[in-house]
Amino acid sequence: MDKITISKPDDFHVHFRQGELMKAVLPSTLKWFGRALAMPNLRPKPVLDTRDAKRYRGEITAAAKEAGHPDFEPLMAIQLTDKTKPRGIKHAQQAGVIAAKVYPIGVTTNSDNGVRSLKSCALTLQAMQDCGMVLSLHGEKPGVFCLDREREFLGVLDWLVESFPSLRIVLEHITTFQAVAKVINLPETVAATITVHHLFLTLDDIIGGGLSPHNFCKPVAKRESDREALRHAVLWGNPKFFLGTDSAPHPRDRKECASGCAGVFTAPVAMPLLAQFFEEHAGKNWRKGLEEFSSLHGAKFYGLPKNSGKLTLIRR
Ligand code: DOR
Ligand code: ZN
Repeated sequence: MDKITISKPDDFHVHFRQGELMKAVLPSTLKWFGRALAMPNLRPKPVLDTRDAKRYRGEITAAAKEAGHPDFEPLMAIQLTDKTKPRGIKHAQQAGVIAAKVYPIGVTTNSDNGVRSLKSCALTLQAMQDCGMVLSLHGEKPGVFCLDREREFLGVLDWLVESFPSLRIVLEHITTFQAVAKVINLPETVAATITVHHLFLTLDDIIGGGLSPHNFCKPVAKRESDREALRHAVLWGNPKFFLGTDSAPHPRDRKECASGCAGVFTAPVAMPLLAQFFEEHAGKNWRKGLEEFSSLHGAKFYGLPKNSGKLTLIRR
């Protein structure tokens, strides 16, 4: 098949940044995706409330229009901090914000005002459950050896599911065999995004030869056995797993330096790579698998209609 058409995909996890960098990177998402969930970890000020989210949505929409994509729909998330109030959640939800993102303090880029303890946010989480806002989790436990951070984070999911049985939770950009197993074993309210780069990379691609800063992200790519588990989760067609590219651009001098930023910029190549992955591994129904993973499962989990547009991919 040299040409396939699928429903327009959604990217349920992307970093658009702001200003000139946004203008430079946004077209790479507009080319492939109908909607995208814009991550709120902006610098110097993250997207924390309704006002920030409206302003950021305005900036994305304006840049999309300027780039010739007036129909692109940015999906908005606010960052949940220790200071987020239940009424702030309700207000944001009414303004169209669909998710609140938790960064445990200090685990990744721009997470220094992250959350110290999810348990101390119980009232806010209750408000999210009540109004149907999705909890989006950067699943790494701070202060733990880097390869074990995701695995050590998983325990808190049991508390979340028990305390908030109808809160929808997305464990973002999972990288381990244990995270795949955990998400499968938890109720339907828990899903996970998987990036394209984590289907291709292992830690060897970052530090196994010459140091490759452009493959460095958080959570860091792990072992071959972890990558295999992610590949199986994606190919299996389970609706709990869907695409969030975590495309995370940084200026070259912030990647190629002594203390480089985490983040892999995949937006320009994510859909072609994913199509290649499905064609090579999913058997004869690969087009259907690709469409479910990138265009259907995520929308369904978030309670959004499927995109009306189409994406055609041509091999060349
Ligand atoms: O690698 C990453 N880059 N992981 C994150 O969680 C944040 C992101 C960024 O903003 O650069
Ligand atoms: Zn991210």
